Amino acid sequence: MQISSTQPTLDNSLSQPLAETLRQRRQCLANQIDFPVLLWSGRSSPRNFPANVYPFRASSHFLYFAGIALENTVIRLDGGKLTLFMDEGTAAAALWHGDMPKRAELAVQIGAEEAFPLAELKSYAEGAATIAAQDAATRLQQSHVLNRIILPANQSQSLDLSLAKAIVSLRLRHDPVALAELKKAAAVSVTAHQTGMQILPKARVESEIRAAMEAVAIAHNMTCAYRSIITVQGEVLHNDQYHHPITSGDLLLADMGAETEAGWAADITRTSPVSGQFSPTQRDLYDVVLAAHDACIAKIQPGVEYREIHLLAAQVIAEGLVNLGILRGQPDALVERDAHALFFPHGVGHLLGLDVHDMEDLGDLAGYETGRHRSDRFGLGYLRLDRPLRPGMLVTIEPGFYQVPAILQDPERRTTYAEVVNWDRLAQFSDVRGIRIEDDVLVTETGYEVLTAALPTQAEAIEAFIAS
Ligand code: GLY
Ligand code: MN
Ligand code: MN
Repeated sequence: MQISSTQPTLDNSLSQPLAETLRQRRQCLANQIDFPVLLWSGRSSPRNFPANVYPFRASSHFLYFAGIALENTVIRLDGGKLTLFMDEGTAAAALWHGDMPKRAELAVQIGAEEAFPLAELKSYAEGAATIAAQDAATRLQQSHVLNRIILPANQSQSLDLSLAKAIVSLRLRHDPVALAELKKAAAVSVTAHQTGMQILPKARVESEIRAAMEAVAIAHNMTCAYRSIITVQGEVLHNDQYHHPITSGDLLLADMGAETEAGWAADITRTSPVSGQFSPTQRDLYDVVLAAHDACIAKIQPGVEYREIHLLAAQVIAEGLVNLGILRGQPDALVERDAHALFFPHGVGHLLGLDVHDMEDLGDLAGYETGRHRSDRFGLGYLRLDRPLRPGMLVTIEPGFYQVPAILQDPERRTTYAEVVNWDRLAQFSDVRGIRIEDDVLVTETGYEVLTAALPTQAEAIEAFIAS
């Protein structure tokens, strides 16, 4: 079916700048490849019966070029031309979910020149590349339509790999429309963290803080960009439980970020004293992590290697721990033998965009410059980004200090690092389980801009905020 340009637009039609940006993104992709592309939006997965589903989240690659979250929809990109494939809503679906916009209306809205039912997809699939969807049902459909097996993070088919590389080159650096969305997500996330800090002294259980923080995102018609980590057990890096009681001597680690309706993410962590005041030992270690955070951000500018920023965090943390008497030796030598990773076992951050850990569905293709690979070193294995920084990239900076029993009680590590850790001194810091300080930092032409700077990081400022 040919879509005429006289088709009516929807009330919620895309703004002119967004429509133009989507067109430019599609043209930039067309400039890099000479084969057609099919991108699936994906579909929600049932929890039990088919109509009770987990929330739908459209594929970020689809969102990047289509702009709106349409379920069970495919776009075909060919030389800048956009074609939409989706089925019309049925009467039965309308009974439960209301009327769906018509395919032709949606096609006009996203700038598609033609639109067809999904049944016609196969005849447009010849020679097309794709990116694997996250849900298995959609991957099956992709495999069927393209007549080859489509698996996640397995761009072994050369066209799919070329497509993934072209998309990475576009999505690595954010355009003004993306940046406006990312700033909205950052601003709402800052408010969410402020709300969490305000109720901290009165909260009894982690879930109360979670509820207050996530309510801010929901009230702005946003969702969470990832499962919030709101915990007094900060040493569990991706803690997904919220039932622990909060007591006065605890530190609360809150890692929460909102996602805009168009899918753009924020990712912020703050660590706050429940009592409203850091204990002297908590404050000492907090200041070590903050020194690493500040030093890393100050270093951000185009051309700087992100790996160097990670190593700077390691160096500052090692120095701080030597000064506190927890580590023994020269900081450089300690970092070289990965002693910092006993307490800072993850990378200093990652790409941020349509996804938290942006484009990690493509493995390390986005995070690692061509020809570079993950190290198996204890202190570098979780480095998620190893590229020179470029203007328009958005990265997190999130150093931390953790006392992880699985690391610190591991007999092999205790032997390896027997002389460099003062275990008796470390025991004096038992009221610190985990500290992380995380901000979202945009690389600009001349340096950086911290999108989440409105949320305090200084210990005194956090204490003052809680007191207020
Ligand atoms: N929120 C997950 C992370 O910081 O990587
Ligand atoms: Mn992060
Ligand atoms: Mn985070």
